[in-house]
Amino acid sequence: MATTDQDKTPGNNGPRHVAIIMDGNGRWATMRGRPRLFGHHAGARRVREIVEACPDLGVKYLTIFAFSTENWKRTQVEVAGLMMLFRRYISKEAKALLAKGVRVRFIGDRVRLDDKLVALMDELELLTSHNDKVHLTIALNYGGRDEVARATKRLAQDVADGRLDPASVDEETLPKYLDTCVLPDPDLVIRTSGEARISNFLLWQSAYAEYEFIDTLWPDFTSEIFADLIEKFGARDRRFGAVKA
Ligand code: FPP
Repeated sequence: MATTDQDKTPGNNGPRHVAIIMDGNGRWATMRGRPRLFGHHAGARRVREIVEACPDLGVKYLTIFAFSTENWKRTQVEVAGLMMLFRRYISKEAKALLAKGVRVRFIGDRVRLDDKLVALMDELELLTSHNDKVHLTIALNYGGRDEVARATKRLAQDVADGRLDPASVDEETLPKYLDTCVLPDPDLVIRTSGEARISNFLLWQSAYAEYEFIDTLWPDFTSEIFADLIEKFGARDRRFGAVKA
């Protein structure tokens, strides 16, 4: 399904699409003398609160970075625990997400994910496919460079098969091959935990996004903090490279 031009237009004041790098779960747990997975579980509970806050804040699209292509380098215990948490989250939250009008999508490369998890992801996407109140996109085994590489491979295949004329390729072409092809670009990218990096998240899509790097660790990120950042965004002067008349 393609989005309309209207869907791609950021809201007048607030951000229509917010993307979040949910960082700091590990430190949050360590500070409490608990294993890192304890922090991830607390982080998952925050996801629910932030998704539920979206409609009132005028946020139609929320994209969250749950697991990167680089996160496989963590210990086997942490990776397995996270994968179990994702399976549990999907099974436990499916009903509530459906009831609250949330449409869920996943971006990232599914090839490395286990079959059981992929089946749950497919089911949740299908189950919520008629919802339109909030569009929640969960980036799972996602990396911006990996996404561009996979998109380029598909684009090259279309050229090789004669479906695409290389002379017609412009900056509108590649986004059609990205995992995010049906989504508008993010207006605001938030990263918690004090790190000022984008860590390979939505590289192409965030070309004109505003950024907020805040010190709060993800498990402490409340809907009030979220609302403050949305309000602050409304005061920004976004010119998209142009000069104000
Ligand atoms: C980064 O914190 C967080 C992650 C790699 C995992 C994000 C996962 C969640 C918030 C849990 C649930 C998500 C869903 C969609 C159910 P970190 O571990 O790198 O923290 P640190 O920098 O303090 O070590």
